Amino acid sequence: MEAARLIVDDVRLGEAPPHVDPALVVDFDYLAPAGMEGGDVYKALSRLHQGPDVVWTPHHGGHWMSTRAEDIKWVQETWELFSSKEKSVPRGSLPYMPPITYDPPDHARYRAVFNPYFTRRRIEEEYEPKARAVIQALVRRLRPQGRCEFVSAFGIVAPIVIFFDFVNLPYDRRDEFLGWGHQLSGGNAREARMAAHQSITGYLGELLEQRLEHPGPDIFTGISQWRDNPRFSHREELTGMAELVFLGGLDTVASAMGFALWRLAERPDLQQRLKDDPAVIPAAVDELLRRHGLSSTGRLIKEDVELKGARMKAGEMILNMVPLSGLDDRVYDDPFTVDFDRPPAPHNSLGNGAHRCVGQHLGRMELRVMLEEWAKAMPIVRFDPDQPPPSSSPGSVLKVDRLHLAWDA
Ligand code: HEM
Repeated sequence: MEAARLIVDDVRLGEAPPHVDPALVVDFDYLAPAGMEGGDVYKALSRLHQGPDVVWTPHHGGHWMSTRAEDIKWVQETWELFSSKEKSVPRGSLPYMPPITYDPPDHARYRAVFNPYFTRRRIEEEYEPKARAVIQALVRRLRPQGRCEFVSAFGIVAPIVIFFDFVNLPYDRRDEFLGWGHQLSGGNAREARMAAHQSITGYLGELLEQRLEHPGPDIFTGISQWRDNPRFSHREELTGMAELVFLGGLDTVASAMGFALWRLAERPDLQQRLKDDPAVIPAAVDELLRRHGLSSTGRLIKEDVELKGARMKAGEMILNMVPLSGLDDRVYDDPFTVDFDRPPAPHNSLGNGAHRCVGQHLGRMELRVMLEEWAKAMPIVRFDPDQPPPSSSPGSVLKVDRLHLAWDA
């Protein structure tokens, strides 16, 4: 019944090309899905699991969507068929940002600029103590207040302070940077995204010049020195790489923190478990990442290919619905439930193959330290009964809009 409601008549929408099986056409806009009334974007997106595994939607110029973990992983890994040269839906909404917009083998040359700054050792030895100090200070400030709106008081602030330290940027411009980031990753109009993109590249262009003159230990210095590489070809490579670092590291971690606290607030037993058994925290981080895939990433189909009855043509787009991967009930029992003791099962939330998240150790470390410090210093938190319930929103990166928490101060 529900599936029948999702599958729409292609005549009504009138935009499915003739090779698309009408049984695979859904009226589904991933940037404005139906079913958001309760404010839970995962529930709204998961309605897609009631239909076929791979579907076509006429929204945003028409594109495929993969909704199941096995297909999402295959698309992430199979760059020979699914190119990253165009990876946003609608097309053209993601600026040129090497390495994420390149396929192997060219991808590797830009990725090599990033890798040394993101090793697990470097993250844990150099940045973890600083991240812990930031998080401890925030928790100390919140604790006596008895309540907070988590997103503005913590979820946005912690990643940006930690990230600014990581990239050696002036903290006083954080609000401006955040605004640009949100304009780019939310479901905003093209003009707003382009304006944000121009502001970011303008700033980053100047910054890279400065780093070239005054090198430091940070990744922006590494990127600025790409200019001396014999394979350097144009200035946009530099600003594109810098913009990717900037965008990759902010919204994702802020959202991951927000969704994590949302789950904890509805489950005091999980909070107690973190307090009683801190050794479970690394597993908790990955379970929370599994539950909350965040970035829906597109690929350009390079050759005609058939997947689960979907006849895809070269030149069409497929959007990997990564937030649905961890909610796949064929892979994870009771997937909406967070279970720190779930048997280890890989997830696709950090990508796979060539584009696997370069910031994974940084992101994981920030989440782990947050859970450690929160469990140590905060009492059990709950949703604030005097405030509106939590709410989230769609986008190429899913976002928590508000999360009011309360506790006994
Ligand atoms: C919980 C936090 C994070 C999540 C869920 C996440 C998710 C992802 C995913 C799914 C991809 C693969 C995209 C694709 O297949 O096209 C990716 C790539 C990437 N991420 Fe993350 N990310 C997180 C944190 C970070 C952080 C902290 C950074 C730091 C700057 C970062 C930087 C990047 C970059 C640069 C890439 C592109 C890698 C490449 O193309 O080789 N991410 N991320």
